[in-house]
Amino acid sequence: MTELAYAREDIMLHDITIPKGAVVIACISSANHDPEIFENPDVFDIERSPNKHLGFGSGIHACLGAPLARMEAKIALTNLLKRNPNLRLAVDPSEIEVETTPGIHSYKCLPVVLE
Ligand code: HEM
Repeated sequence: MTELAYAREDIMLHDITIPKGAVVIACISSANHDPEIFENPDVFDIERSPNKHLGFGSGIHACLGAPLARMEAKIALTNLLKRNPNLRLAVDPSEIEVETTPGIHSYKCLPVVLE
């Protein structure tokens, strides 16, 4: 997920000047992997706490559908695990490749065993 904006004035950020009028693209998924905020940021840790991620954005434009998306995920994953109590990875975790599309972190494929 990326956010696009234009600089309304020259902005000095660290050692870089973003000139007035320049397109600025903020990459939320990079923020979610910020090593200054998250310990082992590239490790999938479902119990991470605290977990101040920006997956649903933040502030005035934070995702309106977040409660619905969370509820859907909870229902889907609960039922998936109820129906497949032995669900597990079919490969070693080190074999799982991360997709590097700009703005989106995802797995290329997640092979699992359903028994
Ligand atoms: C896992 C699912 C979802 C993810 C990861 C997600 C993520 C996001 C993100 C990152 C934003 C931008 C926030 C920002 O600009 O700071 C956003 C905005 C928005 N999302 Fe979602 N979203 C999800 C599902 C949904 C669903 C199910 C709905 C509606 C039923 C929805 C409705 C919206 C709306 C209306 C906005 C615009 C809010 C605004 O600009 O004020 N989203 N979402």
